[in-house]
Amino acid sequence: MSQRVGVLIVNCGEIADMGSGDVSQPLVGAQMMERGQNTLPAGNGIVILGSAIERIDDSESLQSEFAPWWDGSNSNSGDMIVFDAAGRAVTPGFVDCHTHLLWGGDRSSEMRLRQAGMTYRQIAEAGGGIAKTVLNTRSMSMPELCQIGISRLHQAASTGTTVVEAKSGYGLDTESELRLLEAMDIINDSNPVKLLPTWLGAHDFPSERTRGEYLEELVNSQLPAVAEQGIARWADVFCENGWYSNDETETIVRAAADYGLPARLHVDEFEDSGGLALAAELGAVSGDHAAKSSPDSRYAAAESGTMQTFLPGTPYVLGNPLDSPLNKCIEENWAFSLATDYNPNCRILSMPFIGNLATSRMGLDPFAALVAATRNPSTTLDDPDVTGTIAEGSRADINILWSQTVDGWCQTPGENPVIATIIAGSIVNMKE
Ligand code: NIG
Ligand code: FE
Repeated sequence: MSQRVGVLIVNCGEIADMGSGDVSQPLVGAQMMERGQNTLPAGNGIVILGSAIERIDDSESLQSEFAPWWDGSNSNSGDMIVFDAAGRAVTPGFVDCHTHLLWGGDRSSEMRLRQAGMTYRQIAEAGGGIAKTVLNTRSMSMPELCQIGISRLHQAASTGTTVVEAKSGYGLDTESELRLLEAMDIINDSNPVKLLPTWLGAHDFPSERTRGEYLEELVNSQLPAVAEQGIARWADVFCENGWYSNDETETIVRAAADYGLPARLHVDEFEDSGGLALAAELGAVSGDHAAKSSPDSRYAAAESGTMQTFLPGTPYVLGNPLDSPLNKCIEENWAFSLATDYNPNCRILSMPFIGNLATSRMGLDPFAALVAATRNPSTTLDDPDVTGTIAEGSRADINILWSQTVDGWCQTPGENPVIATIIAGSIVNMKE
């Protein structure tokens, strides 16, 4: 990472500034394809001073004002680095709003079990799944957790991700859950990607406790300790038949709200158990997976301002259909986002790959997919540094792509579409 006082990007191609209307709100429906109002034409430049965007203007004017000495090469003089985008498109940094970043171990043997016909539930009952990862994760030292987290965030940044929401959930006892959150706090201070932690103590039930005992621990000791620790920003529950019931989810979400932790929930991943409807009723900021939710639940989510966050990487790796109704969401003006769900089964940290699934396999417009990977998830993250837009005054989280239009962000599934990434004003990766 090289930190300089200023970066001047000249000769930008299309810039997706995502700036239409009230940027604290997601774009929905036809707005998600309104390029005219959410892009700037080729020929502009961007000046970054410190961590923020200072100016966006005609490239030649910015160059003569900020780097009159520039000779046409990627070069720097004094306090200003000039990066020649050479007509390539520019997007906001990608915002991955659902990951399980920190865990240890290896679940690669589960592929053969799935191919032999076992379901996710059956593999879990046979000692695989979350419970297996919990054992591996508990045995990791704090330095090991930090090292693996930093390495994964670097990998995410290499394909343009600048902000990552990360869940605990592979500890499943108070001490281990606190340790995962503490590791996230350390990692956040020692890498460029912004990490936003979520408490997911209710990811599963630990084998050493009864269900009732663990619920009691969650509400009466784990949650108060997490709140006291002050690192987690949200509470999550794996609300799904076979894991946490709607009643249990409601109890945990209401208790978390009393401690000032809003909910972002796993809902309706494998079947519709009314999880998204519950998320809407409880005012959750996001209902994630939401693959099997009913249209009525989706209307309720839109009504209550609960984002639907689709995670197509998970059904992809599990061999399930990619059938979340992305275009129905567009037709009905339901707000939605896309995220990776990075976890031991779904080792995808590339938002462009998720965009590729959404466009090539689910028929979503590439610009709408980009909105779902930048501005829309940012509206659920409640952080002044995270806007998912490119605007004067906002944190400089920027990707320069290989292509002239921003549509190229999600069309190179086996290759990296990102030429360079800037996070908070620092160039964190740049291809030669
Ligand atoms: O979102 N479904 C719950 N949690 C993760 C997977 C966890 C695991 O299999 O380890 C998910 O897909
Ligand atoms: Fe998940």
